Amino acid sequence: MCGIFAYLNYLVEKDRRYIINTLLTGLSRLEYRGYDSLAVNGDKENEFLIFREVGKVAALRAKIESQSTLDMNKKFLSHTSMAHTRWATHGQPCEKNSHPHRSDPNNEFIVVHNGIITNYKELRTILEKNGYLFESDTDTECIAKLAKYIWDNHAKGSKPTFTTLVKAVCKELEGAFAIIVKSTHFPDEVIATRRGSPLLIGVKTQKKLKVDFVDVEFGGAEAPAAVAQPKGNSLLAPINPSHPPMQRSQSRAFLSDDGMPQPIEYFLASDPSAIVEHTKRVLYLEDGDIAHIDEGELHIHRLRRDDNMSTMRQIQTLEMELAEIMKGSFDHFMQKEIYEQPESVVNTMRGRVNFDTRTVTLGGLSTYLATIRRCRRIVFVACGTSYHSCIATRAIFEELTEIPISVELASDFLDRKTPIFRDDVCVFVSQSGETADTILALRYCLERGALCVGITNTVGSSISRETHCGVHINAGPEIGVASTKAYTSQFIALVMMALQLSEDRISKTERRNAIIDDLCRLPQVIKETLALDNELKQLSRESLVKQASLLIMGRGYQNATCLEGALKIKELSYMHSEGILAGELKHGPLALIDENMPVILIMTKDSLYPKVQSALQQVTARKGHPIIICNTNDSNIPDKYRTIRVPQLVDCLQGLITVIPLQLLSYHIAVARGVNVDFPRNLAKSVTVE
Ligand code: UD1
Ligand code: M6R
Repeated sequence: MCGIFAYLNYLVEKDRRYIINTLLTGLSRLEYRGYDSLAVNGDKENEFLIFREVGKVAALRAKIESQSTLDMNKKFLSHTSMAHTRWATHGQPCEKNSHPHRSDPNNEFIVVHNGIITNYKELRTILEKNGYLFESDTDTECIAKLAKYIWDNHAKGSKPTFTTLVKAVCKELEGAFAIIVKSTHFPDEVIATRRGSPLLIGVKTQKKLKVDFVDVEFGGAEAPAAVAQPKGNSLLAPINPSHPPMQRSQSRAFLSDDGMPQPIEYFLASDPSAIVEHTKRVLYLEDGDIAHIDEGELHIHRLRRDDNMSTMRQIQTLEMELAEIMKGSFDHFMQKEIYEQPESVVNTMRGRVNFDTRTVTLGGLSTYLATIRRCRRIVFVACGTSYHSCIATRAIFEELTEIPISVELASDFLDRKTPIFRDDVCVFVSQSGETADTILALRYCLERGALCVGITNTVGSSISRETHCGVHINAGPEIGVASTKAYTSQFIALVMMALQLSEDRISKTERRNAIIDDLCRLPQVIKETLALDNELKQLSRESLVKQASLLIMGRGYQNATCLEGALKIKELSYMHSEGILAGELKHGPLALIDENMPVILIMTKDSLYPKVQSALQQVTARKGHPIIICNTNDSNIPDKYRTIRVPQLVDCLQGLITVIPLQLLSYHIAVARGVNVDFPRNLAKSVTVE
């Protein structure tokens, strides 16, 4: 939800200007999240300078540049710094609620945090009773205060190590978090840890790393046992002072040939897009990992011993390019991503669909196909746009595989404690792979023994790592909060999965071939649809921008397009919009129709065409003037209707095309209304809290 970024240089001299610029650029890559702040070392020993600003990163940059007393040329051979961009969960977006949050005016402990601490009220009450004064309305501040409380409760001479202290803090925290902690007691050291929120570490060295992994250290140290306090208050108990000190093995990867630490830079972030321009060598932290960076070395400890967990963290190579996350000549990321669809759909199919032999091979599923084919039912679980991609493909999945499918919104799935069994296959669809509700649903299904399959865009994300198998949709990074190219790629990935699962069904051959042939036409057909852009821009300005509401109707395969189109309109233009299943019109929504209610009707040529024609009549009989999305070759539509004509594809793929005019319309309405398209209010790209 929030974004965090930290930069450490060790034996690599950098001036303050470089450090601040690195932090600001890191924040700007995460900028779709919100309200920004950063902390760097001051001029005096153990002094941190903290800058905060509400709004865009540019405002924070301007604020820092206006500090005439700040020596930007001051050099640091080794330095640790951190930055944060905040999406308000607790407290208003304002300076006092911006991170880092501190333990006290001397900044003994400062913390940046992504996620949500669900027991912060209880912690805050106890800490306040113990005399710790809070300065913000956030849940995060209790982390910094808690660290100081535990520290203060230890007599001089028996103070815990930094790692032991953070372990003790984490043991008291409930909820999801990725945090980075810095302390005046441990200058130039940093601790980063996560539970449920993403965090990765980029590593940059001049010489090649000796090995491509970091060993997890369990030495001496389970998390310190809390000693019960008097009056039954076991929370916030001091660490047992007799606890043995943490053992430290050397991180082989970071040593030079003579065994000495080598010059090194570390980039910590909640998202790889903030790291990729500095280094492609990254290490993803697992839940419960406590990463400690000290004197150029990275050590990873575990909060608790877990025998099922690997004892190594691989240093991987990021495959994304900086250019992939830049806007290029487009005005907004969303616009760029809509226009990328002719290529992104090809990337989703590349190496997987053979159009000559009409076969599909999803490498990630190959060893699981037999199990999936044998399952009792398939349960799709997702949120928002990803959920719509499941709705869009459910019918073709059922038709080809003949396996019953249910489609679930992750939050509702969890609320209902849906029964899940060992012979179920659960498919988790998520662009980010970090959506909290979807991850919780995944863990719920893992516990019940179901085979869990991921459909994700983000390699290395939690869902990609925690599922048994899956398919990366390979759409490339999606930065705009409104999901566009990920939708079409998820749609295709699910269709490919159904095609592969049904490859042994002779009776489906003709149907499968028709689908594969049209998948081949897809890039060209998307290009033709994008050519409607000017017409759609005009339509949005003439007929839609000033409206208070917009209904989008259709049925069958187009139901998902209606839901997805309405979601795009809502989230981007803040206009009320509803996707309506045309078959439901007479059961209520028809009452909304009069000569003033704007309606878009999707009426493409498939087996339900006559039924949608009847919906058109119902609407016009109530003086409605629907705009009709229809096929280019449809000559049945009277001239009196305004039409948006799109190329025809086989029925189950048509939704890939009908959604594009709605993506473009929502984009143009938002631009015309002066709304910030890439950062709609109150929304975040990655919803990492429940
Ligand atoms: C993989 C490689 C790709 C290479 C291709 C060549 C990766 C990420 N992909 O692609 O670079 O060109 O082989 O054969 O290395 N998975 C999950 N959950 C998910 C998504 C994926 O567990 O949500 C697993 C898959 O089961 C698989 C692995 O991740 O084991 C990679 O998946 P995917 O990228 O879809 O596989 P390929 O298309 O075979
Ligand atoms: O990353 P995910 O696909 O799991 O995200 C799910 C939803 O939060 C997301 O699709 C959301 O609905 C989009 N902002 C809609 O455009």
